[in-house]
Amino acid sequence: MFSGLFNRKKKEQDIYGHMPAPVGANWAFLGADMHSHFIPGIDDGAKTIEDSLGMIRAMIGMGYKSIITTPHVMIDYYPNTVETITAGLQKVQQALKENNIDIPIKAAAEYYIDESFMTLVDKKELLTIRDNEVLVEFSMLYEPPMLSEVIFRMQSAGYKPIIAHPERYLFFHGNLRKFRELKDNGCLMQMNLLSVAGYYGKNIKVVADELMSKGIYDYCGSDMHHEKHAAALKALAASKEYNAIIGYPFLNSRLCS
Ligand SMILES: [Fe+2]
Repeated sequence: MFSGLFNRKKKEQDIYGHMPAPVGANWAFLGADMHSHFIPGIDDGAKTIEDSLGMIRAMIGMGYKSIITTPHVMIDYYPNTVETITAGLQKVQQALKENNIDIPIKAAAEYYIDESFMTLVDKKELLTIRDNEVLVEFSMLYEPPMLSEVIFRMQSAGYKPIIAHPERYLFFHGNLRKFRELKDNGCLMQMNLLSVAGYYGKNIKVVADELMSKGIYDYCGSDMHHEKHAAALKALAASKEYNAIIGYPFLNSRLCS
């Protein structure tokens, strides 16, 4: 008599053993996630297609309705192109179909600001999150030379930068005015949800909390690379920090496809 119930419960669990998050305590209110590393074998995220499926199942279990995945493009380590990213996305979409996993997924990129990035800007060959919005990152330790010129060059080419996880750039920590300047210069700002969980350290959490309280952020993202990030994100949804996040007017839902 209990075997049917047992089987149904087992079926509801994803490969990491997660149960779907209860309604009201998950990330459904965001609608879309716009920063993750789900394409296998092309950056430091999913290594195999099984990794990809496991993380995407976890996202569905946490209430997400739509995914824009963003492989690194960094000439020295992950020299991805529109072709490698598009081919990888098709592989993921095919695997989702074969496994009856139903969630819309698109791909853009997380561009590291380097010389080859500037070439792509000038050629107008960037993958966008939405319209002309492009996710960019830079060194955690050193401010990129001529950052304001880079932003100006992107804008002149018709792009709008989204600065990935600004709270993680340590050289800005002593100078919070920098974040406001970037925003005033037309950049959008994307918070990593796990920053608020303290996943990257206390200082980063303090800065993320501060930037949220000042209304600096536009989007938030999971920046999910592996199963530990999925577990931490699930734990965050059940923590006291969740209320501050759910009360913030993130724009993610406008990215739903
Ligand atoms: Fe990332």
